[in-house]
Amino acid sequence: MKTTFYGQSTFMIETGGKKMLFDPFISPNPMAKDIDIDSLKPDFILISHGHGDHIADLIQIQHSSGAIVICIAEIANWLGKHGINNAHGMNIGGGFNFDFGRVKMVNAIHSSTLPDGTPGGNPAGFVIYAEGKAIYYAGDTALTYDMKLLADDNLDWAYLPLGDNYTMGVDDAVKASAFINCKNIIGMHYDTFPAIKIDKVAAVEKFVKAGINIKLLEIGESINL
Ligand code: NI
Ligand code: MN
Repeated sequence: MKTTFYGQSTFMIETGGKKMLFDPFISPNPMAKDIDIDSLKPDFILISHGHGDHIADLIQIQHSSGAIVICIAEIANWLGKHGINNAHGMNIGGGFNFDFGRVKMVNAIHSSTLPDGTPGGNPAGFVIYAEGKAIYYAGDTALTYDMKLLADDNLDWAYLPLGDNYTMGVDDAVKASAFINCKNIIGMHYDTFPAIKIDKVAAVEKFVKAGINIKLLEIGESINL
């Protein structure tokens, strides 16, 4: 299983010959200007919530790839009004077995209004079960006791927001790593905007001090999960 970072909270996970793209926000991000979004060609696009910094390139990438969009029911309905009729709507607590593995939608504490003002339902995170591994993608969220529900899932990796202001910051993300009982964390949702700039050296130190392997990937960088 391989993952590639495209800035903000945008990642590709490749597993079982399929490509899953999470929360595409690439073309408005000057730090990701070298990424050609039409070359990504995911098989699935997973959307955590309706904010622009998570769906900016959703419609274009769906059109250029034909990807199935996995998201909460309200966003699936909204996509139907924008000509995307293959969205797979889910809701919090539900799981579904796709051809690459299982996806479970889990709680996130945040908000979720779509760019045109349409309510986007509740914000969500995902747990992906594939290749015998379990991966948590938290989306935008506060630290929440609900994360303790994942402590028995034997999570191999977790993507957590670190940027503070709109989501939990580094200190709460270190606590979240304990709540979910996961020792391998990939940071996201930091440095893209002035309000979410972090001190990366200090952030890494806090995770390392807690005995956690933390990855802050460069845009375009890939690692094996
Ligand atoms: Ni958000
Ligand atoms: Mn966000």
